[in-house]
Formats: sequence, structure tokens, C-alpha cells
Amino acid sequence: MKKQSWPSGRAEWHFMRNTSCQLLFLLWSSTAVMLSCSGAEVTCPEECSCRSTFDPEAGAAVRVSCTRGLMRAVPVDYIDRSAHIIIIDAPPDKQNELTIGPIFTQPTPFVNLRELHIVNSNVPSIGQYSFWGLQNLRLINLTHNNLTSIGADNFRGLINLTDLYLDHNNIEQMPSETFRHLTSLRTLTLSNNEITTLVPRLFRMLAKLITLDLSDNPLTELNPEVFKDIQHLRVFKCRGCLLRRVNTQIYHLASNLEELDLGENQFKYLTSDEFISLKRLKKLKLDGNQLSVIVDHMFGRNRELRVLSLARNRLALLAPAALANLTNLTHLDISHNKIDRFHLQTFAPVVDCLKTINFSGNNLVLNEIAILLQILPEIHGVGLANLSLTDIPPNFFTYNEHLVALDISWNKLTNFPYKLLTKTKFLQRLDISHNKLQTLTELDLQRLEAIAQVNLAKNTWRCDQCSAGTMLVYMTTTVLNATLRHLKCYSPMRLRGVSFSDMSFDRLDPCPTTHEAQMSVIAGLMLLCVAVLAAVAGALCCTRRRAAHYYTNEEKRREHEHEHPDELLGRTELGSVATIHAPYHLVPKGS
Ligand SMILES: *[C@@H]1O[C@H](CO)[C@@H](O)[C@H](O)[C@H]1NC(C)=O
Ligand SMILES: *[C@@H]1O[C@H](CO)[C@@H](O)[C@H](O)[C@H]1NC(C)=O
Ligand SMILES: *[C@@H]1O[C@H](CO)[C@@H](O)[C@H](O)[C@H]1NC(C)=O
Ligand SMILES: *[C@@H]1O[C@H](CO)[C@@H](O)[C@H](O)[C@H]1NC(C)=O
Ligand SMILES: *[C@@H]1O[C@H](CO)[C@@H](O)[C@H](O)[C@H]1NC(C)=O
Ligand SMILES: *[C@@H]1O[C@H](CO)[C@@H](O)[C@H](O)[C@H]1NC(C)=O
Ligand SMILES: *[C@@H]1O[C@H](CO)[C@@H](O)[C@H](O)[C@H]1NC(C)=O
Ligand SMILES: *[C@@H]1O[C@H](CO)[C@@H](O)[C@H](O)[C@H]1NC(C)=O
Repeated sequence: MKKQSWPSGRAEWHFMRNTSCQLLFLLWSSTAVMLSCSGAEVTCPEECSCRSTFDPEAGAAVRVSCTRGLMRAVPVDYIDRSAHIIIIDAPPDKQNELTIGPIFTQPTPFVNLRELHIVNSNVPSIGQYSFWGLQNLRLINLTHNNLTSIGADNFRGLINLTDLYLDHNNIEQMPSETFRHLTSLRTLTLSNNEITTLVPRLFRMLAKLITLDLSDNPLTELNPEVFKDIQHLRVFKCRGCLLRRVNTQIYHLASNLEELDLGENQFKYLTSDEFISLKRLKKLKLDGNQLSVIVDHMFGRNRELRVLSLARNRLALLAPAALANLTNLTHLDISHNKIDRFHLQTFAPVVDCLKTINFSGNNLVLNEIAILLQILPEIHGVGLANLSLTDIPPNFFTYNEHLVALDISWNKLTNFPYKLLTKTKFLQRLDISHNKLQTLTELDLQRLEAIAQVNLAKNTWRCDQCSAGTMLVYMTTTVLNATLRHLKCYSPMRLRGVSFSDMSFDRLDPCPTTHEAQMSVIAGLMLLCVAVLAAVAGALCCTRRRAAHYYTNEEKRREHEHEHPDELLGRTELGSVATIHAPYHLVPKGS
């Protein structure tokens, strides 16, 4: 037996064992005094660390973690029998090789044990009575091991167990009634195993099960029969299960589902009454399938739905009534599809509730998105990544004054959209990584200072004194330190890949020579003239055509009132919708 040792001069947790007094004392070197609290000291194996924790719900707990890797077996003889939480883990590249028999129950059981985690330990099987007599055990975490089969005997005597985590093993076999002793079980996770079938009555006696995760198993289909025993299920996940369809009988049985995750499967279509039984559904993930259309009234009975992900499918269209009845929808992800236009009517049910929408990676031109954003005043977060944007007009978010999060990464922006961002006063998260920005001016940097989370990585930063000088100053003197120091120079070639944190003003290239500068000013002026001429000509000839798409000022809106988006929604009030005074130049994709 080895007592927990604390070298003098170092702060060390030291704790006492006593049924009436489980306190912890911080010994600040030798000056600290041990308070009176009779009881034996808690012992801790050399290869582990032990401390006392306090959780308002569960109370004080002695927590033993052995996570650096174990040479031999679990040093169970040296673990204090009063432990509440035991964690055995190892670095993934240096996994343990452990077997577990009834080591926690003999000779005397760990009567207090509430949570047992044995992870990354290549455990090949669970013995028959391994957990017998651990009356207080609530949670078993055996993820990242090498279990190939499990059976009812493994879980004898665990009638109080609520959480069982068996993800990342090689489980193939699970006979009927495998979990029949676990009558209190609420959470069961079996993701990343090799389960191919769900045998009848597999989940018998799991009437209290709330959460079931079967993700990443080669199931190909789900046997409806097994859901008869778990009708109180609220969360069901089967991502990456090779599913082509789900027998809707399952939804009928598990009609209390609040969260359903069927992402990364092989659904090609959904019937219009697919989810008709799931009246309590709040979160539905169908991302990473092969859906090509969402038909009218698809979610008509899912009136409580808040989160809907349809990302990474093959959608070209959301039908005009695809979102009918979704008056509580808050987050919609339609990114990475083939959508090139919208019916405004589609979004009529969600105009007052939708808070985030992700358009990234579609075939959309900015005009289409601009029109839609005009009718979504409550929007807080917008995803506009991977849309080949070269520019975003300053008025783009005029109608979206609550914008807090903006993702415009993976585009082709060459200039920082300063004017656009001065109008989004409440922005707190900005991702503008993977663009073609070369420099940030002082004004840009000032604007960025007020945004809590900024990602500027993977742009084509130019490291000469004119372009990067100010950025270096901001790096060393402002809150932008952390954001800027990770950026890397892109040009000149000799500095490519050099991190801003390793950069100093002297190392930067000098500014382009005055001659070059003059030439670039002249070139710039000429470009400007051309641009102005083009803009005037464009404005003259486009006014009428654009008016048919959307409205840029009050007069035009009145002239064409019958075509205004609000009109389409049958709304007479424009509410807080602001008037855009400036001409609204949008650069269509690919121009
Ligand atoms: C289940 O928990 C209760 C209360 O915590 C306890 O009295 C009982 O002995 C436990 N039963 C088993 C088999 O662990
Ligand atoms: C299982 O244990 C590992 C290692 O301690 C931990 O990272 C993981 O969060 C645990 N899982 C659960 C569900 O407690
Ligand atoms: C896992 O178990 C199988 C057979 O049960 C064995 O062949 C394999 O070597 C084990 N893997 C590891 C990493 O121990
Ligand atoms: C939408 O909800 C209403 C109840 O408010 C219901 O009558 C109607 O059938 C629902 N629509 C669909 C398509 O289910
Ligand atoms: C929408 O959510 C609110 C709470 O945020 C709730 O009171 C209301 O009943 C929900 N509406 C529907 C149709 O579920
Ligand atoms: C889309 O954007 C939302 C937030 O705006 C984000 O949570 C989600 O992960 C994004 N989806 C994808 C597929 O990038
Ligand atoms: C953009 O597309 C690239 C390449 O397809 C992908 O790696 C990246 O995750 C996408 N980013 C977003 C935010 O959609
Ligand atoms: C910037 O951050 C680095 C590392 O996070 C830190 O070492 C440095 O002192 C910080 N500089 C300033 C000026 O805050």
C-alpha cells in the first residue's frame, strides 16, 4: 500500500475518508494545517491520480483516474474501496491490454462506486458476474475496447444502472434480452460496432430507455419488432447505418421521439407521411443522404420541430409547402445541395421563428439569397460558405439586424467586406477563412476588434510593410493577438508559410517602390473610371429588369407592390423592414 504523497512546496490535493465528513483540503506546502476530520487517508495507486470532487446533485465523490496507461492489470488492490468514480484510460497510441473479471466486487465490493470507465484498454469481454454487488453503480463506460459479444449475464445485478456506453468496440453478437437485467437503463450507446441485425426482443425490459445510439453499424435495416420494447424512447440515432428506408411502423411505436438522427445513410426519397407519427419531434437530422426533393407538407405533423438538417443531399428544390406547419423551426441547414432558387412561399411558415439558415455550397446566386433574407428578419446566423462569392454588397443584411454569426469562408473575396460589417452591429462570430484577402486596413482591424470570434486563416496574406505592417501592430497591441498570430504569409514567395507570430516589421518586404505605387494609382484610377461608366450604364439598363426581382427603394416598391415578397406572404405591414436607399449592386455568381 502506498499513501498519496505530496512533496512539500507544491500544492497537492489531499483528502480524507470518513462517512460523515468527506471534505477535501488543499495543503499549501507545509504551512497548511490539516483540519480535524477523523478517518483514514485515502490511498491512491502510483500510476493513478486521485482527488475529491463535489457535484451539487451527487454530492462529494472520490475520483480515481489512471489515464497514463497501465503496465499490468488494473491496480485494484491499491484503489481505495470508498472510490465513487474510477476512470481507466490510456493514450490511443499506447492502449492498455486489460481483462476485467469480478475485480471490483471481490474480496470486498466497491460499495460507493457510481461510475466505472474503462476505455482504450482492449478489453475482450465482460465476465459473467463482473459487476455483481456494486449497488450504487449508475454508469458503465466501456468505449474503445475490443468487445466482440455481450450477453445478459454480463449485466447481472445492475438493476440501478442508468447509463451504458459501449461505443467503438467490435460487437457483432447480441442475443435476445441481452439487457434484461438493466431495468433502470435510460441511455444505451452502441455506436461504431459491427452489429448487422437487431434480433427480436433484443431490448426486452428496457421500458425506461430514453436514448439509443446505434450509429455507424452495418445494419442496412431496422427491425420494427425491437422497438415494441422501447416505446418511451426520446432520442434515437442511427447515423451511418447503411439504411435505405425506415419502416414507419417504428415511428408509430416510438412516437415519443424528440430527436431523430438518420444522417449519413442512403435515403433517396421520403414519403409525404414519413414522419406523421412523430408529433413531438424537435430535432431531425437527415444530412448526408441522397434526397432529391422535399415534398409539400412533409413535416405537417411535426409542429414542434426546431432543428432540421438536410445538408449534403441532392436537393434541387424545396417544394412550396415543404416547410408547412413548421412554426417553431429555429435552425435550418440546407447546405451542400444543388439548390439554385427558392419559392418564397416555402419560407412563409418560418419567417417569425427561423434563427439560423445555412446556404453554403449550393448553386445559388446572391440575388436569390438576398430576396429570401429580406423576409427573414429574425435571422441570427447565416452560412454563405462555398458559394464562389467575389463580393458581398454592403446592403446585403439590411433586413437582418440581429445577425450574430456569419460564415463566408471558402469564397473568393479579395477585399474585406468592411462596409457590410459596419452594418451588422451585433456580429459576434465571423468566419472569413479560405478567401483571397491580402491585407486588412486599420478600419478593418478596428471593426474586427469588436467581434468576439474571428477566423481569418487560409487567406492570401501579403507580407510587405504596407500590407501587413498595421496588422502586426494590432497583433502585438490588441485583443486580435490570438486571431492574427496564427495567420501565415502567402506572398512574397520567400515568406510564404511564415507565421505572423514569427514575423517582425523588419522582416517584411519593403513597400512597393514609388514608381510602382504611382503606376498602380494610375491603373486604379483608370479602373475606377471604367467601373463608374459600367455602373452607370448597368444601372440605366438594369433598373427595369431588376425591379421584377426585388426592390431597392420605396418608390419602386410601391410601383410594383403586388410583387413584393411580403405581399406574397399576405403580409400588409412591412414592420421593421428598412428601406435600402443606395442602389443595390449584386454581383451574380461567376461574373
Ligand atoms: C438500487 O438502489 C437502491 C437505492 O439507491 C438501493 O437501496 C438498492 O440496494 C440498489 N439495488 C441494487 C441491486 O443495486
Ligand atoms: C468514457 O470515458 C472516456 C475516457 O475517460 C471519456 O472521454 C468519455 O467522455 C466517457 N464517456 C462517457 C459517456 O462518459
Ligand atoms: C480484438 O479481438 C480479436 C478477436 O477477438 C483479435 O483477433 C484482435 O487481435 C483483437 N484486437 C486487439 C487490438 O487486441
Ligand atoms: C398543419 O396543422 C394543422 C393543425 O393546426 C392541421 O390541421 C393540418 O393537417 C397540418 N398540416 C398537415 C399537412 O399535416
Ligand atoms: C413552439 O415553442 C413554444 C415554446 O418556445 C411553445 O410554447 C409552443 O407550443 C410551440 N409551438 C408548437 C406548435 O409546438
Ligand atoms: C451550417 O451553418 C450552421 C450555423 O450557421 C452550422 O451550425 C452548421 O454546422 C453548418 N452546416 C454545415 C454542413 O457546415
Ligand atoms: C467548402 O468546401 C470544401 C471543399 O469541398 C470543404 O472541404 C469545406 O468543408 C467546405 N466548407 C464549408 C464551410 O462548407
Ligand atoms: C499574444 O499571445 C501570446 C500567446 O498567446 C502571448 O505569449 C503574448 O504575450 C500575447 N501578446 C500580447 C501583446 O498580448
